[in-house]
Amino acid sequence: EYVNGVLHCEDVDLVTLTEGLGARGIPTPYFVYSEGQIRDNANGYLSEIPPDLRDRIVAGYALKANPNPGILGVLRRVGMGAVAVSGAEMRLARREGFPPHLIMFNGNGKDTWEILYAVGQGCLMNIDSPFDASRIALACDELATPASLFIRVKAAFPQLDSVHSYNRTSAGSKFGVALDEVEEILQQIKSHPRMKLIGLHSHLGSTIKDTSTLVENFRFLARLGDQVRKFPTKSSLKSSPLRADGWKDLDILNIGGGLGIDYQRDGSPHAPLPSDLMRHVVSALREAAFPWRLWLEPGRSIVGNAAVLVTRVLGVKGNETKRFAVTDAAMTDLIRPSLYGAYHHISLVVQGQHEESEEMDVVGGVCESGDFLGKCRRLPRSIPAGSLAAIWDAGAYGAVLGSNYNLRPRAAEVLVAGQGWRVIRRRETFDDLVRLYDECD
Ligand code: LLP
Repeated sequence: EYVNGVLHCEDVDLVTLTEGLGARGIPTPYFVYSEGQIRDNANGYLSEIPPDLRDRIVAGYALKANPNPGILGVLRRVGMGAVAVSGAEMRLARREGFPPHLIMFNGNGKDTWEILYAVGQGCLMNIDSPFDASRIALACDELATPASLFIRVKAAFPQLDSVHSYNRTSAGSKFGVALDEVEEILQQIKSHPRMKLIGLHSHLGSTIKDTSTLVENFRFLARLGDQVRKFPTKSSLKSSPLRADGWKDLDILNIGGGLGIDYQRDGSPHAPLPSDLMRHVVSALREAAFPWRLWLEPGRSIVGNAAVLVTRVLGVKGNETKRFAVTDAAMTDLIRPSLYGAYHHISLVVQGQHEESEEMDVVGGVCESGDFLGKCRRLPRSIPAGSLAAIWDAGAYGAVLGSNYNLRPRAAEVLVAGQGWRVIRRRETFDDLVRLYDECD
């Protein structure tokens, strides 16, 4: 994406976008997204679906990675579903035109209004625990409406040990139902005529770098599904018309999201592409004894590599042992390095020639020693103050995890398509920051 030494997002040159013409420039730091890249990523999932399986596979975009409506519109138009983890995410997905049967609501701590909203709208929902099942049952009764439900189970996957513990959601995490609790949930569902079990769900975690773990997850769910289908229907309920043929509605396996992306950007691939995953999953689906439907919930692999965070280098300084490039972006804009020790590639927007480079930490201006964007990065020894830098692969869990710590305004977001661009979230102002204080008397 460098053209003549200047970083571009599609056909837009980031120096011109930042410096702008008159007042049209975008103040740094800001996120800039490529619509084409987002579409390509989504198509990596969708175009691998063979025609005869089109109505059997749903790729639902996990809004948590980036719920910007400008991005949701693109994904709805290419035919993705939506995966929400809060009532507000569900509301936004509805508002942006996703149909309820393509919206999945996950959560281990769902609020009462969120459950009522999901049932009332007809969104699909995960049961995360026995108490969650009871709360969903109450909502179905209150609204006298049936609900289409999944059971979220937690599988033991030792191959995930290399994933950061914050990004693991399998056995040992707070999410989902342990395998020995599944029977209890099945009993709860059976004894409630409005609870309809349509699927099983297992999301293993995030930043997974091999397709085989995710395919294994599908196989695990298929085995579990075959067992559940044999689980007896209570004889006392056999007469109920809704339960007459047992688990007749159960036919979806949801393998969650979790496919990692190549944050390294050192020339050798560090993560499979969505199309690689799809090829493997589709062939596992064909092999399965029962003709299951399939759901996937990708987030990072849809938007992660589609954005850079553009920032200005304010200056370079040193302490006794180290050099620091201080930028106007900080952990309040991109917390992944500070929170998970995550690596994001960093480069200057304008590439110099034959400059001597030196190792330095790239840090923000927040009053925390843990505020950094990159450690020990080779950057030109003398970066002129005011130079623009790009922090790569900032599209997922970037802007949405931004905060107002140190009373810093959250960054703008810009969506580029070809030569055109538009601001899809304006930068916060001082007034935005103090409004909620001022509104109290
Ligand atoms: N489905 C469920 C139930 C999830 O919990 C998640 C993410 C996804 C789907 C989407 O996973 P993805 O395809 O994006 O990996 N803040 C962390 C990531 C937390 C992800 C948690 N769950 C980070 O910045 O790495």
